[in-house]
Amino acid sequence: MSKADRIRYLLKTPSAWKLALSKLRVQKQRASILEILSRLPGGDQLRAEFYPVEHHIAHLASAYHFSDFQDSVVLSVDGFGDFSSAAWGEALNGEIHIQRKVPFPHSLGLFYETVTQFIGFPHYGDEYKVMGLASYGKPIYLNEMREIAYTENDGGYKLNMRYFLHQTGKAKYGIDKGIPRSENFFSEEWTKLLGKHRAPGEELTQRHKDIAASAQAIYEENLFHLLNKIAANTSIRNLSFAGGCAMNSVANGKIAENTPFKSIYIPPAAGDAGGSVGAAAFTHWQKTKLRCKPMNNASLGYQATDIEIKELLNQYSDKLETQGITIKIYENEHQLCNAVSDEIIRGSVVGWYQGRMEWGPRALGARSILCDPRRADAKDLLNGKIKRRESFRPFAPSICRENVHEWFEADTDVPFMMQVLPIREEKRTEVPAITHVDGSGRLQTVTAQHNSIYYKLIRAFGDKTGVPILLNTSFNENEPIVCKPQEAIECFLRTNMDVLVLNNIVVQRNT
Ligand SMILES: [Fe+2]
Repeated sequence: MSKADRIRYLLKTPSAWKLALSKLRVQKQRASILEILSRLPGGDQLRAEFYPVEHHIAHLASAYHFSDFQDSVVLSVDGFGDFSSAAWGEALNGEIHIQRKVPFPHSLGLFYETVTQFIGFPHYGDEYKVMGLASYGKPIYLNEMREIAYTENDGGYKLNMRYFLHQTGKAKYGIDKGIPRSENFFSEEWTKLLGKHRAPGEELTQRHKDIAASAQAIYEENLFHLLNKIAANTSIRNLSFAGGCAMNSVANGKIAENTPFKSIYIPPAAGDAGGSVGAAAFTHWQKTKLRCKPMNNASLGYQATDIEIKELLNQYSDKLETQGITIKIYENEHQLCNAVSDEIIRGSVVGWYQGRMEWGPRALGARSILCDPRRADAKDLLNGKIKRRESFRPFAPSICRENVHEWFEADTDVPFMMQVLPIREEKRTEVPAITHVDGSGRLQTVTAQHNSIYYKLIRAFGDKTGVPILLNTSFNENEPIVCKPQEAIECFLRTNMDVLVLNNIVVQRNT
């Protein structure tokens, strides 16, 4: 949206002035970043140049510049950023060309967020709960949803503003101590159309599940419509996709089937966190005409040394001894994976802490809790021992890449758990713990090249059981995913986890 368009919109919509003023405040804060940095220790020595990068360019670059595509269609879809909710175009030989944006106040991300609030999940990022719940419902509210969010002929989409409050300034939103918070975005008209909203904690009924299924279906309808319109005007069949909506792994898993795009790259941090590396990659390209290396592995975070882990275990030795916990150090990865896979087969719940932490919101075998996917009672086991999460949320499978076609109906790379795919019907009963109610699984494909030790563990388990798959959930109880070894030990001691693996050290509760 050009500056002139923004001014025109504000003149036509006096209710949005308040919103515009708050945006100006944010811009002012942004402008003072240099001042903030200069106040930090050593900040007065800072001799850096600053390059502002537009929100959606940062998203597009976070996908395209880390893919191995020379040419690609690029797409960013999210809530809002820099007064737009989506942008798309082509990237050719390193250069990103944006063809169109969807301007404020229309937004598929905001549509999904509003449905999430309506179903009684008030926290920022709760959309994944609606995505999980959708599989339990039937999309019987499609007409109502199409009244709320609808496609446009050129591929874009619009929201019917009768049903929303975000553009009026009546629903407050902002950032409180780093966490985005917002009041409900749905209007009274929305409630007349879909009935009373569910308050947080109220019973989840079939109506809520059907609304979730309908919203998911409408999101997919709009996304595939957009991608098919883009495809009609280009011969490129690679897709680089980012933005908060690119975290909708259920829709992502259907892109290849519903559009001409067969090669899809979605980065591990597809949401706003990923905008940081996107902005850096974009600026790097602008300055040097060099692209970054493809990102095939998300292990970019904090790494603990063996010495650090051993010292820490020494500090905890009294506590560990009191609880009858033993420690064993393995000399090589083969022995370690052999022992840990035996434990998993025995029914143990294993905290798996290896190397650098994952970049992005998903645990991908560096900070994971692992369990046997063949166990029908795995969900109860995990919820009883550690997680206590909603029963409708599925657990995810990590699978050796070369075995994907034997277990799933597609054969593709999904290194960052960004696609949900149908599990082969005849295989579903073999892996009940990772098979969602609709027969799908949010898989992570694991290769020896990009995730060596995790691959070895899954392979060891597969060689013994015939199932080259592990149930993988994030290493945490309810707090953020553990980063440092101390957080892993604390989580282990606080919960009933059976085994904790810290690099090559196995900490075991003997019960
Ligand atoms: Fe964004």
